[in-house]
Amino acid sequence: MHKRYILLSGMRPTGPLHLGHLVGVLDNWVKLQDEYNCFFMIADWHALMSEYMNPQSIKTYTFDNVRDWLAVGIDPCKSIIFRQSDVKEHLELSMLLSVLTPISWLERCPTYKEQINQIKDRDINNYAFLGYPLLQAADILLYKAEFVPIGEDQLPHLELTREIARRFNHLYKKEIFPLPKALLTKESRLLGTDNRKMSKSYNNYIALQETERGVKQRVLSMITDPKKIKKGDPGRPSICNVYTYHQIFIKRIHLDDKQLQQIDSDCKTGKLGCVECKNMLASYLNLYLAKFKERRERYKDKDILKILNRGAECAKEKAAQQIQEIKSVMGLL
Ligand code: TRP
Repeated sequence: MHKRYILLSGMRPTGPLHLGHLVGVLDNWVKLQDEYNCFFMIADWHALMSEYMNPQSIKTYTFDNVRDWLAVGIDPCKSIIFRQSDVKEHLELSMLLSVLTPISWLERCPTYKEQINQIKDRDINNYAFLGYPLLQAADILLYKAEFVPIGEDQLPHLELTREIARRFNHLYKKEIFPLPKALLTKESRLLGTDNRKMSKSYNNYIALQETERGVKQRVLSMITDPKKIKKGDPGRPSICNVYTYHQIFIKRIHLDDKQLQQIDSDCKTGKLGCVECKNMLASYLNLYLAKFKERRERYKDKDILKILNRGAECAKEKAAQQIQEIKSVMGLL
């Protein structure tokens, strides 16, 4: 049997998960569980760096997000599911790595510069926020993760992680840390209702917990082929976001391709109007989400807490070992 690589990824518990997370990230995590030793982490300290003025929601979304993970099939028997703040070693490693991280590496990080310029509704001019990617590096290096599934926006953080790992290995003349590689999450084909990337901040998303009415409203607001103005006009499914949703979700409710072909041809001939097509999509999505919500209901807060506690224990065991090794290399033991 070949060696199983170690993989770690994390999410900040700052909002409800939506269909974009499902299709872009979570589906991928579910598959990766069978090929890698996976650590999936709720990055609540990272969330605190931007939400500290309004921190009550972090705990709520921690449970809420983990519940979604479990409902889509992230399996605590296969993967270690844990909360960052339960494993203090992340902070310890972050401190140890901070001594060899030049401030300029953090200041020049494009995500940092961008956010400092863009985020105006919250004050993120704090010491911790500058160290955001350093804590992320500690998350990854603490478990000697070799692979990190992330979106393109996170690439600068992984590059910094590699630089820190390289510098550490060089300084202490020992290959302690592997240089982690990104497993790039493909840009999700699923756009938001306004055809931009689906995102909480654009308010163009369909949450996994959306009510039936909510789903319908959101779907009815979706942008379709601008040349198809009324029923009878021929449409172009290939450029229509609603059609892309049909492509993705028809499979998930176990309808076959014929259904999809019918939509394709009825749209092209004009027989199918956009409102009808959207109503159909809303009912398919609701069918899919009903099953999802049913699975979600099975996990009570106490079950989630148990899973997080068990995950933290497993993570801690590995983390404590690594910290011993790192402290010894750095001359502290
Ligand atoms: N910064 C990541 C994000 O916002 C979350 C994160 C924290 C993370 N630590 C991580 C991702 C470690 C991958 C690996 O999406």
